[in-house]
Parts: sequence; C-alpha cells; structure tokens
Amino acid sequence: MTELLCIVGARPNFMKIAPLMAAFSTQPIAAKLVHTGQHYDPAMSDSFFAQLGIPRPDVNLEVGSASHAVQTAEIMRAFEPVLDAEQPRAVLVVGDVNSTIACALVAAKKGVKVIHVEAGLRSLDRAMPEEINRVLTDQISDLLYTTERDALNNLQREGIAPERVHFVGNVMIDTLRQHAARATPAARTLGGKPARGYALVTLHRPSNVDNADKLRGLLETLARISERLDVVFPIHPRTRSSAEKFGLTPLLERPFIHLLPPQGYLEMLGLMQEATLVVTDSGGLQEETTALGVPCITVRESTERPITVTDGTNTLTGPDPARIWPVFEDILASGGKRGRIPEYWDGNAALRIAASLRAWLDSGAA
Ligand code: UD1
Repeated sequence: MTELLCIVGARPNFMKIAPLMAAFSTQPIAAKLVHTGQHYDPAMSDSFFAQLGIPRPDVNLEVGSASHAVQTAEIMRAFEPVLDAEQPRAVLVVGDVNSTIACALVAAKKGVKVIHVEAGLRSLDRAMPEEINRVLTDQISDLLYTTERDALNNLQREGIAPERVHFVGNVMIDTLRQHAARATPAARTLGGKPARGYALVTLHRPSNVDNADKLRGLLETLARISERLDVVFPIHPRTRSSAEKFGLTPLLERPFIHLLPPQGYLEMLGLMQEATLVVTDSGGLQEETTALGVPCITVRESTERPITVTDGTNTLTGPDPARIWPVFEDILASGGKRGRIPEYWDGNAALRIAASLRAWLDSGAA
C-alpha cells in the first residue's frame, strides 16, 4: 500500500525531496515518487537524481514546457489517473513551482490529504508566479511544514489554523550539509580557479530576464563586475534564449565572464562555497549562501525568505544597477554581512518531518 505519493517537477524540488525520500525509507513510510517532467533536460533533472541518490521516479508524467496554464493543466490531467491508481493516504508536495500547485489541487479535489513542505513563505508580490503557487497550495494543504518561525504569521493571516503548521527547518539545507564535503572544487568546474576570485551569478526570474531593459541593465552590471572579479554564470535556458532574442549576448562575450551550461548540484555547491559573493534572483541560492556564510546580492525587490536578510548574508537590491553597485563594493571592501545560521537549518529537517508524518499517519488523520 502506498502511504505517500511524493511529487517533484522542477530543479529546485530535487534537493528538497532527496533527504525526505531517505528519511521516509528509514521511518519507514511507504512512499512513491512522481516526476511531472516539468524539467526534463539531463542537466536540469537527471544529474540531480544521480548526484543526490534520489530513487528513480515510480512514474514520470513527461509534461515538459508550455505556458503556465497549459503546463499546470497538463500536469493535473496526467496526475489524476496516477492518483486514482495509487490511492495513497496523502500527497506530499515541496516548494512553489507549477508542479506543486497542480498536484496539490488534484489531490484536494479528490479528498486526498495534502502535505506541503516549505509552506508559509511569502514575497507579498503577486506578480511572481511562485507566490500564487505558494498561497494557493497552503490554502488547500492539511499539514504544513515551515522552514522559518515567521512563516506561521503569514499562514495565520490567511486564516490557516496553527495546529496544521509545524516548524521543522529547511530540507534543502539537509541536502547541503550532507553533500558539502564532496562538492566539486571550483577549479575542476572552471578548469582553474581565478586568482582574484569570482562572483557566481544566476538569473532566471521572468521579471528580470523577460524584460529587455532590465536584462540589459543586469548584464551590463555583470560586465562591470568582471573588471574587478571574474564572473561565473551558469545560464538558465530561459535566460539564454532571452539574451539571444534581445540581442544582448555580446555583453556576455568578455574575457572574464565564464558562461557555463546549467550545473549539477555538486558543481554548483562547490562554486558557491568558494565564491567571493553570489549575485542571484533564485530563492534557493539565497538560503544556500546564508547556510554557507557567503555574501549574496539578490537582484529582486522582495524576498519570500526574509530570514536570509535579517539573520543571514543576503542583501536585496532589486535589478537597478545603481543599487547593486554600492552593495558589491561594500562586499569587496568589508567582506559583507557575516550572518548566522537560522534555527533548525541543521541538517535534520527531513528526519523531523518523517517522525511527525509517521505519528500523523498512525493517528489515522489521513
Ligand atoms: C521553474 C519554476 C521556478 C524555479 C525554476 C528553476 C515555476 C512557476 N517556476 O521556472 O520557480 O525557480 O523552475 O529552474 O514552476 N527549459 C529547458 N529545459 C528544461 C526545462 C525548461 O530548456 O528542462 C526551458 C524551456 O524553454 C521552458 C523554460 O526553460 O519554456 C522555462 O521552464 P519552466 O519550467 O516553465 O520554468 P522555469 O523558468 O524553469
């Protein structure tokens, strides 16, 4: 009998599900894994399964890329028969991608309990597709596991009963702690480490990369940074195609800008550990840099992960070059914010979730 059907779809889901599947097998909880296929390139998907030891998905829905509406609808359509066949006691979703809301919605409509890992994060920016996914997934979840204490306030404001919410810490940081010692050295990924250090850059938010002026400003800033430090830029497929479409690739063709394809987990972890600083619009990197104590400039106006700013090494600048530059200079001059590790980002979040879920299942709640 399947107790839990666990869902992954896109790159940031994989490092969250890895420690959960491991913890479920020791508890034990009978869990099966469904991959929606939202991300399908070997570099965006398969390499994470291999490096993180995630079990092969029991089912792959193979939905691929499309508009948000079509992608979400296709996941729902493909997931429903799987749910009918498996009859699990609950569906577990992680994070905030389209696969998260799509599968949660199918389960909730069928009266199957929904568990959300990484609940309660809010940027308060409804223009972000992930914010819509977060708010809606939390509304239809029966059990909500949070990564920071303040997430409870967000959930209570939206009318969610506190009894359903459990503060357990950050499963993505479980993965980081487990693999930190075997991260791929930056010198190996780069064919030699730049003597003057480097800024590690990732950009993929639609609000930054789908707008020609914003993307131009950001790429010009990278060019300027590359006069002081090397720039290492693993480029997301969305960003690469935007840069090509807007005729901005010449800005990236500079001697000290190292353009890389999307990297594996261990390569990325090594690049983060050894970076002078990180410039990003990712959610995950804000947390990972805080856990590693590496300064981070987040080129967004808001963050759903405020603890990385209040406690960690993160500074929000938005995409405006005039706001990024002074923070960059300050990091070079002073080393940036020191930060401290947030509560329960200790490598044991998945074990806490597994113990809590075992008790919940045994109580007959699902
Ligand atoms: C998705 C998530 C985002 C997460 C990001 C990490 C949503 C709403 N967004 O955004 O929260 O931070 O993943 O990457 O779910 N593509 C490929 N190969 C792939 C997958 C995608 O080339 O394996 C290209 C396609 O052209 C596709 C585009 O990337 O149209 C965007 O992919 P999509 O899954 O729609 O969203 P992401 O921008 O990756």
